[in-house]
Amino acid sequence: MNILVVYGTTEGQTRKIARFIENILTSGGNKVTIADACDEPPSPKDYDAVLIGASIHMHNYQSSVKHYITRHITELNKMPGAFFSVCLAVASDLEDEHKEARKITHDFLEQTGWKPLMTTQIAGALKYTQYDFFKRLIMKMISKKEGRTTDTSKDYEYTDWDAVKKFINEFTDKIAKT
Ligand SMILES: Cc1cc2nc3c(=O)[nH]c(=O)nc-3n(C[C@H](O)[C@H](O)[C@H](O)COP(=O)(O)O)c2cc1C
Repeated sequence: MNILVVYGTTEGQTRKIARFIENILTSGGNKVTIADACDEPPSPKDYDAVLIGASIHMHNYQSSVKHYITRHITELNKMPGAFFSVCLAVASDLEDEHKEARKITHDFLEQTGWKPLMTTQIAGALKYTQYDFFKRLIMKMISKKEGRTTDTSKDYEYTDWDAVKKFINEFTDKIAKT
């Protein structure tokens, strides 16, 4: 299959996840094009399937991803697609945090009108050493509230790579059956 992967990222974790997805798909014999939503990705119309990912910052996804989806909504709704959402809420022990993340995804898809075959929530990363002073302060405060680490001397990755692999395999199996 010829598959397009489009992603939005602010600190780089969603790009890392998108590249991991690219590797899984390529190893499975697919041809993959990967693009940052900021870099004018190709239209999905020449592909057999599309995966789109974005990360949550202050309860919102990257506007570049929203623009890409709305610009290509007609083609996207005619083809198999999956949306992967990256955030820290899903790394929390609090069920309300998970609910909130699912609601952000649900509202985003409703606003754009895109109806992907599958969606998933992927835990991202806390990159204290890469944040500027204010971002570090905000993230430290949020982390304290949510019981995450406040040691800002290191970065922390919460991504469950096996779960990402499982999701991609389920998606490709589903397309193969349709
Ligand atoms: C300033 C800032 C705001 C964030 N806001 C949220 C949020 O509202 N909800 C959430 O679950 N995660 C939030 N996060 C966590 C990010 O979603 C997480 O760090 C993710 O890995 C970022 O992905 P990216 O590197 O691809 O941008 C925030 C992170 C930062 C730095």
